[in-house]
Amino acid sequence: MTKIAVAKGDGIGPEIMKAVIEIFNAANVPLEYEYVDMGKWVFDKGYSNGMTPEAQETIESLGILFKGPMETPKGKGVKSVNVTARKTWNTYANKRVFQTLHGVDTVFSKAGIPIDLTIVRENIEDTYGGIEHMLTQDVALARRFITRPGSLQVIKYAFEMAKKKGTKRITCGHKANIMKITDGLFLEVFYEVAKDYPELQADDVIVDDLCMKLVTRPDIFDVVVLTNLQGDIVSDLCAGLVGGLGFAPSANIGDHISIFEAVHGTAPDITGKNIANPTALLLSGLAMLRHLGYMRSASMIENALQYTLEQGVRTGDFGDRSKPALNTTDFAQAIIKNFNQLPAHNPRPMLEDKPVTQTVFKLEKNPMLLSNEEEYEKIVGVDIFLECEEQPMALADKALKHTTDLFKLVTISNRGTQVWPKGSVFTNLVNQYRCRFESVAETGLTQIDILELYKRMAGDFKICSTELLNMVGDKRMYSLAQGQ
Ligand code: NAI
Repeated sequence: MTKIAVAKGDGIGPEIMKAVIEIFNAANVPLEYEYVDMGKWVFDKGYSNGMTPEAQETIESLGILFKGPMETPKGKGVKSVNVTARKTWNTYANKRVFQTLHGVDTVFSKAGIPIDLTIVRENIEDTYGGIEHMLTQDVALARRFITRPGSLQVIKYAFEMAKKKGTKRITCGHKANIMKITDGLFLEVFYEVAKDYPELQADDVIVDDLCMKLVTRPDIFDVVVLTNLQGDIVSDLCAGLVGGLGFAPSANIGDHISIFEAVHGTAPDITGKNIANPTALLLSGLAMLRHLGYMRSASMIENALQYTLEQGVRTGDFGDRSKPALNTTDFAQAIIKNFNQLPAHNPRPMLEDKPVTQTVFKLEKNPMLLSNEEEYEKIVGVDIFLECEEQPMALADKALKHTTDLFKLVTISNRGTQVWPKGSVFTNLVNQYRCRFESVAETGLTQIDILELYKRMAGDFKICSTELLNMVGDKRMYSLAQGQ
């Protein structure tokens, strides 16, 4: 028996959770449930992270959370409970499995093209830190973090999972041709990890090309690993390939705590009507059973689900519209009646249970993720982002006055495109520029040198932000401006 935390969620959450737990109970799944208070209704009671302290304590001690969808309260400054949960507990890998389900008609099922795809999406970093600022009243900036240790965690998980699953191919989706430093780092880590898995064919594809290939030949991919935002978009695209959100499960995997949930939201338009499709939450629950080693129960329930779908049994959101739709409760009962039936297509083998002993982790302090990069780092310049409505030449004249003998002004750019010393008069400008100053001497600069320059520039401009330009060995740790 394994005890897990269950949060019913908001909207259709309680309805679909009830249906799934009924299926689990009928199958004698060896789980015990501790219900926790989490979601919009908890937020409304004044808990700003959407969960009570008791809920947090229970989840942290049990290590597994099975959750229904939760509504993100509307309003500025309010963070999604779902994203908070994933980030607080460092569930760094979001695994979503997309498979052809017979009985769920799609373009590909009709064409006889089978889909069995797993998307692994990095779950913590990227723009999801939500660190955003208006630098001027016209210019918004989001920070995008891609880290070496964070990329390593998710990419290692993806390779290990691909190996266990017995897949042949693992692909990194990215945009490293444009984001050479951030996506470039993710891609570099991907190929570093690939060296430890020679049995897997590791390759990469630019994300736009990946999208085109997924909608034309989804069967050529096995496991695809991506950064957070690109993974978010690509995984919803894949949900569309297999029949929509009603069939998209999701597992958020961490070292200590893992969260299992459907991809879809609270479906406010159908809440309280008992007509929601519980399949995505059920598939997420099956992923949870397999994660816990309850292979037999998972296979038995999945075979019953597949058989039920093959019979044309459906809820209102999919299937043959000429056949009557069942409500959520009756759909769950139909699956229960079909326990021990085998589907005509891809029946799951009845593997032996291998229950995983849940280790309760008691952490004394926050884990610090560090890689072994210890090369000497040198400051070679600074980018100063400032507000200015003047033409590039006029701005350069003022900035050049501040260069002293330590700095030279090397480029000015606007929205990343160089406008000084060379540029085009056809480049549209906004009221925020970047002035790049580099060190005159080979020896490099100190932070105090940078502060002196900052003070001088601040006399003439509103400075929005600064970034140091660093070199590690002979590797430049910053990008060049377009046209530089
Ligand atoms: P949604 O996924 O709730 O609904 C989109 C459409 O799909 C609606 O027409 C809905 O009726 C339908 N739908 C979704 N799940 C269904 C199911 N199981 N059976 C039948 N039809 C289903 O997306 P929406 O409307 O953008 O978001 C509503 C709320 O859910 C928002 O507050 C959002 O923040 C939250 N949300 C929560 C998620 C989570 O808890 N992981 C994920 C996505 C959204």
